[in-house]
Amino acid sequence: MTIMPEVSTMDILTSIEDMRKACVHARKRFGGRCKLGLVPTMGALHEGHLSLIRAAKRECDVVAVSIFVNPAQFAPGEDFERYPRPMEQDCALLEAEEVDLLFAPSVREMYPHGAPQAFVDLPEIGGRLDGQFRSGHFRGVATVVAKLFHIVGPDLAFFGQKDAAQVAVLRAMVRELDFPLQMRVCPTVREADGLALSSRNRYLTAEQRSDALALWRSLTAVRVLAEAGKSDTNALRHAMLCVLEASAGVRVEYADIVHPDTLLPLDHIGEGALVAVAAHVGTTRLIDNILLPPAIEGSGR
Ligand code: PAJ
Repeated sequence: MTIMPEVSTMDILTSIEDMRKACVHARKRFGGRCKLGLVPTMGALHEGHLSLIRAAKRECDVVAVSIFVNPAQFAPGEDFERYPRPMEQDCALLEAEEVDLLFAPSVREMYPHGAPQAFVDLPEIGGRLDGQFRSGHFRGVATVVAKLFHIVGPDLAFFGQKDAAQVAVLRAMVRELDFPLQMRVCPTVREADGLALSSRNRYLTAEQRSDALALWRSLTAVRVLAEAGKSDTNALRHAMLCVLEASAGVRVEYADIVHPDTLLPLDHIGEGALVAVAAHVGTTRLIDNILLPPAIEGSGR
């Protein structure tokens, strides 16, 4: 008789009730000290998402991933309908990473009325950076992430630095609403030439992809100036805009230097800063950012 090794297979849950039960059941396998990690996504998975999953695998006993293209965070006219949904391919990637649980609910399951009837809103911080231009976006993000936290009950939740404003909004939500979990933020994964990985990069033509590199070049320009001791954010923003505007295919939405937690504009880099950019390349909206470490005392120019 041959004894087959135990193959770990991923459970795919589409109802809230089944997901709740699966989480409770998975926890039982590890007893009271079980660490359950959640990686919320909208699918169309790439190496950026996989880096969060790998971080979760390193730190947690059970890893749950959610795939839900959340209509509540898309404004009318945005890309909700055309957002890629390569479910089979995503499942294969998650299986290969040995994810334990995949939660992939329908819109009806998450929002039985078609849209949320209750919202989590952070009106101040949620109106900054992307929130200035995507009305209701962070309300939709906070609402769906709060629902996922309630359904899964994770000890740790993993997010990407790529969406820096989302991180600041969700940190504020966790703090304000006392969610009993810790957030982990993982570095942005990039292509070799610097382009930040994004599910939306697949919308870009070859020419637009090359225009899109202006975002990374503008951030690099600020980093170089900051390392040379420049700390006045007006001068730094000017340098950023020069790089972005040199690329004809790029329409800048914002290019800002803000506090990483409050997202409020800074006059000087001082104690560290978030340099963030959003731009349209063709019909595709792209974002990127870097964190600058605190400036060295007395080096500001
Ligand atoms: P989505 O865009 O699918 O991203 C899921 C997670 O992957 C987010 O935390 C995002 O910051 C992270 N991510 C995306 N690109 C990355 C990259 N290049 N490097 C590292 N991490 C990256 O963000 C969302 O979905 C949604 O708003 C969600 C939080 C799921 C709520 O609907």
